[in-house]
Amino acid sequence: MCILLRNISGLATPAEELPPYEIRIIEDAIIAADQGKIAYIGPESGLPPLNIDAVYNCRGSFATPGLIDSHTHPVFSAAREHEFHMRNAGKSYAEIAASGGGIRASVRELRKASIEYLVELLRDRFNGFLALGTTTIEAKSGYGLSFMDEMKSLRALKELREHPLEVIPTFLGAHEIPDEYRGQRESYIQLLIDEMIPAVVSEGLAEYCDIFVEKNVYTVEEARRILTAAKNAGLALRLHVDQLTSGGGAELAAELGAVSAEHLDYISDEGIDRMIEAGVVFNLLPGAVFFLGHTKYPPARKIIDKGGIIALSTDFNPGSSMTRSLPLMMTIACVYMGMSADEALASVTLNAARSVKRNNIIGSLEAGKQADIVLWDIPGHDYIPYHYGENLVNCVFKKGRLVYRKPECGDNREFD
Ligand code: NIG
Ligand code: FE
Repeated sequence: MCILLRNISGLATPAEELPPYEIRIIEDAIIAADQGKIAYIGPESGLPPLNIDAVYNCRGSFATPGLIDSHTHPVFSAAREHEFHMRNAGKSYAEIAASGGGIRASVRELRKASIEYLVELLRDRFNGFLALGTTTIEAKSGYGLSFMDEMKSLRALKELREHPLEVIPTFLGAHEIPDEYRGQRESYIQLLIDEMIPAVVSEGLAEYCDIFVEKNVYTVEEARRILTAAKNAGLALRLHVDQLTSGGGAELAAELGAVSAEHLDYISDEGIDRMIEAGVVFNLLPGAVFFLGHTKYPPARKIIDKGGIIALSTDFNPGSSMTRSLPLMMTIACVYMGMSADEALASVTLNAARSVKRNNIIGSLEAGKQADIVLWDIPGHDYIPYHYGENLVNCVFKKGRLVYRKPECGDNREFD
């Protein structure tokens, strides 16, 4: 199948050979996609001979690469809106967690859910990602925290492998210490190392292993043991670190050669330097800071000025960030973290692809890459973070196939 997208007003994309935050603009471009990959991008006059099966009239839409959300927790069975309102009435996230809410509340709910129910919920959630311009997500388990419930969560993700949203699965069995192991945390750590990680690997259920390193959750020493076991078993590493307190987590991510370290609101200067030396991506989650009513955003300007690679993600989860909107993350990053429109776009596309080691196939509009394309109702990419809180997406293509179209857009497919 070979398709042609014509009447694109312009497109904005980072590119492999450009510096990490630079954006290339092409006016009046056309894009040809063959067998799911970009075969040609540029002015119509340069189009090579191709057997085109279908032509899409983009009616002046502006194009960007499909967005990549490189940190999400979509496998949950119940929402927690009451906690949101408790926080707004003065309770802190930590207080709610200490009184039995938070992650542990989601664990109790997920354990009651069947895999069929989780798959049904996930299908709807995945459709919502596509509608907002996201074509790839990294998705974590972490609300099961028992052998069977973690396997159930990862298997539910795998059940949806035919869904057009591309999913990179992460095992987050070390999201919390489960209630039944309080007071015997060492037994749960042994279960993670001896049984859960090997089972996840042998069933091919995850590509990454993650852990929540935080005061009252996992210590740096525990994380080193668990992640070393995961790495030895063949999983790549990503870590939740320095979210609520500064705890040497970024330094640990660098020491272990993690691909990505995430949150980083309280990262130390030493942590920034170590991560840059080790080539770890800074995965920043401004939605969680915003939604928890916190004011300390991660130091994006300092990271960029020192040469670090930033990805921006939603952290989509029922507790600390109930949104799938990467454009909203771009807005918050511009307003509260001083990021530019170019930096924000690069951080949800090619840099996000770097944080999941997929930058050879997704993250930019370049010949040879997967044809993951968003068509927007915007004059240019700097409009995306500006016009916030609304969906500006007209159409979404995944691997050269139309997978979402705003209802009022009508049928814009023209056959040759
Ligand atoms: O990334 N920090 C740990 N985990 C999630 C929150 C999970 C929850 O509250 O359910 C996060 O913010
Ligand atoms: Fe998270």
